[in-house]
Amino acid sequence: MCGIVGFVGDRPAADVLLNGLRRLEYRGYDSAGLALMGTDGALHVVKQTGKVSALAEKVRKAIPRKEVRAAHVGIAHTRWATHGLPTEANAHPQVSADGKIAVVHNGIIENYAAVRAQLEGRGVVFASQTDTEVLAHLIAAYEHGDLLAAVMEALRRVDGTYGIAVVSTEHPGQVVVARKGSPLVVGVGDGETIVASDVSAIVSMTRNVIYLQDGDVGVVTADGVRLYGLDTSASVERPVASVEWEVGAAEKEGYEHFMLKEIFEQPSSLRNALRGRLEMNRGTAILSGLNLTPRELAGIRRCVIVGCGTSLHAGMVGKYLFEGLADVPTSPEQAAEFRYCNPILAPDDLVIAISQSGETADTLAAVREAVQKGTVVAGLCNVVGSTIARETGRGVYLHAGPEIGVASTKAFTSQVAVLLLLALKMGRGRRLSREEGMTLCREIEGIPGLVEQVLAQNERIAQVAEKYAQVRDAFFIGRGILYPTALEGALKLKEISYIHAEGYQAAELKHGPIALLDESVPVVALLNDIPGKEKTLGNVEECRARKAPVIGIVTAGDEAATAAVADVIEVPRTSSYVAPIVTAVALQIFAYHVARLRGCEIDQPRNLAKSVTVE
Ligand code: F6R
Repeated sequence: MCGIVGFVGDRPAADVLLNGLRRLEYRGYDSAGLALMGTDGALHVVKQTGKVSALAEKVRKAIPRKEVRAAHVGIAHTRWATHGLPTEANAHPQVSADGKIAVVHNGIIENYAAVRAQLEGRGVVFASQTDTEVLAHLIAAYEHGDLLAAVMEALRRVDGTYGIAVVSTEHPGQVVVARKGSPLVVGVGDGETIVASDVSAIVSMTRNVIYLQDGDVGVVTADGVRLYGLDTSASVERPVASVEWEVGAAEKEGYEHFMLKEIFEQPSSLRNALRGRLEMNRGTAILSGLNLTPRELAGIRRCVIVGCGTSLHAGMVGKYLFEGLADVPTSPEQAAEFRYCNPILAPDDLVIAISQSGETADTLAAVREAVQKGTVVAGLCNVVGSTIARETGRGVYLHAGPEIGVASTKAFTSQVAVLLLLALKMGRGRRLSREEGMTLCREIEGIPGLVEQVLAQNERIAQVAEKYAQVRDAFFIGRGILYPTALEGALKLKEISYIHAEGYQAAELKHGPIALLDESVPVVALLNDIPGKEKTLGNVEECRARKAPVIGIVTAGDEAATAAVADVIEVPRTSSYVAPIVTAVALQIFAYHVARLRGCEIDQPRNLAKSVTVE
């Protein structure tokens, strides 16, 4: 969602803030702004619609260079609009009427309309349509010489979620921060401190970080951070953690786009997801973070998997894995729907929350609902220390490294790989023999190599993409375990190329959507040589009879499937359980090239945000 950066130290704050914003731009990006503490005792606030590069240009023009170099304290923000259009007035920082206090904010102030009305009643004139502006005016109203106390007072009067950073001209060496429902991380450097909504804005300066927890409020100075609980006002201690990511992991490293880099990273991200987790000679998986004994695992009667978007699609694959390998009935649920349907959960159910970011508001709310109902909840997250990882307290990290491209790629394949490990582990406690487990272990171990074979098709897939890059609509069809992959292929295409794309169960197409097919509407058919292929080939014939051109994802060497389609993208032979991974990689590459050929902003598609922290 939106991104926050704040800095207190010795070097020019603008450099740190703008670099940080560039690294956070993937989170949300319709406008950006910063506030620098000027040497003249006033704040320099600059805001700009569009990208961070436009903001940097405006800062250069708006503030004399000497002033910019001399400012060592500041806050900045990149916005993904929730309240109000993406205009300069609505961009952050939002500033108090006297211009002394500036606030950047992620999240939503739910009672902002009531608070705004009260403040307006007292004569405060609002300059924006944002919910954030109420915070700036409230803090100003309570500020009597202690900024921390004023922020605390203001926060006690608002409902909703926030990660905030606040500066005041009366306290030039401080940034006050607070968190409730929106992540904030403090990076502790040598004589300088940086705060951000995401470690990717911090790692180039320091690896030592403190993750704020909900209810924490703190004063950031050049010497570090002092934290307090909003409820008690008492001082709280949070551990300093060390970030493992390499700085280069958040850079493009020669690739044209983060998405392409992340697609090509999959052999290594999958190796990281599998490392140390396969116990070959016992034919099982080691997932110690789950913190469940073999007896507890064997006692699980049902799994409910919650997630959104791509993570939900991984969860849908999980259903086929858990039921096929472990006989555990499994329901994948869209996290927001799960939360609001009053889910029926039993004590021997296991709820699994899948989230790359670990911050998705709907998934987090589903986790809280399941915890409230007394169910065991495990998290499958990529971002270490994220809220879902912390609140579930048990789970499996994906270890995929930072995913910067807004369209999720390597996280999906790692999610499916980890679900496969879990299915293997649960299966071994039930119906899988040691030999069957060992065979599956060998196949899982081979996944990164299989993905390398798909990546080797990059140019061929680009050629197919060229043929279809200008279509308006497309369908993706798959059957059984490949149905969620059809949904994922359609999601990838629509979000980065803006082509209207829909995924369907192969058999469902004839129950209505087939009315839309003609020679201008391609159908991508997932025809991997696994059980069900023959039936899907029948559905392909139905499409061809309506003149739709069919692109087949086909197992290498499968002549019958190749003959049935207009264009072929080959994937290596796998079992059903691994087919979603290799197929998803082929579809990611296809979507990437279509979007590239259409000149789309691949890493930052319009209207999207990487981490959706509002419900
Ligand atoms: C699609 C995509 C989104 C996310 C969804 C959940 O490419 O990235 O659909 O999968 O917003 O995000 P996480 O996994 O962070 O919970």
